[in-house]
Amino acid sequence: MKPKLSAALVLAPILVLATETAMAQDARSTTDGVFTAAQAKSGEEAYQSHCSGCHGLDLRKTDAEAPDLTEGPFRFGWHGKTIGERFEKTRSTMPKAAVRSLPDQVYLDIVVYILAFNGVPTGTDKLLPNIAALDKITIDVPASSGGGGRRR
Ligand code: HEC
Repeated sequence: MKPKLSAALVLAPILVLATETAMAQDARSTTDGVFTAAQAKSGEEAYQSHCSGCHGLDLRKTDAEAPDLTEGPFRFGWHGKTIGERFEKTRSTMPKAAVRSLPDQVYLDIVVYILAFNGVPTGTDKLLPNIAALDKITIDVPASSGGGGRRR
């Protein structure tokens, strides 16, 4: 066996281990404060322009078929999911007549606004549309959000 190859064989498992450790450390929940207040604010503006027509100015629907994005339907649809899942779902289905019509960062900011509106805490770092990273952040809807419902 050539020296180069054996070095690779020795290093490969170490790299895999290092990656797995990094991934485990990356897993977090929205209670850690994973987006900024400024980001939620910019998401609010985009939401009001593109989404409020059906989902309402205060996230209570104005369109018969659209779900509320707060209280019961929000908790049911979002609690325990990852931000990555909600981002993908929103981007690929909304607004109904023009899916994927907005930049990824705008979709993410809107998702952030919806979370912040429902009492999810803000933090110091802006959240970026990196799906792999978003997939590791679990949404934890605070019990105090909206009109009740138990925590978990
Ligand atoms: C023309 C009306 C309309 C507009 C505009 C609209 N929606 Fe919706 N939305 C709906 C309807 C109706 C549903 C119910 C599911 C369906 O029919 O696809 C829905 C469902 C949703 C859901 C729940 C998806 C799920 O399955 O969990 C989310 C989240 C959502 N919309 C977010 C948004 C966001 C964010 C925007 C703006 C970028 C937006 N919507 C714009 C009508 C609309």
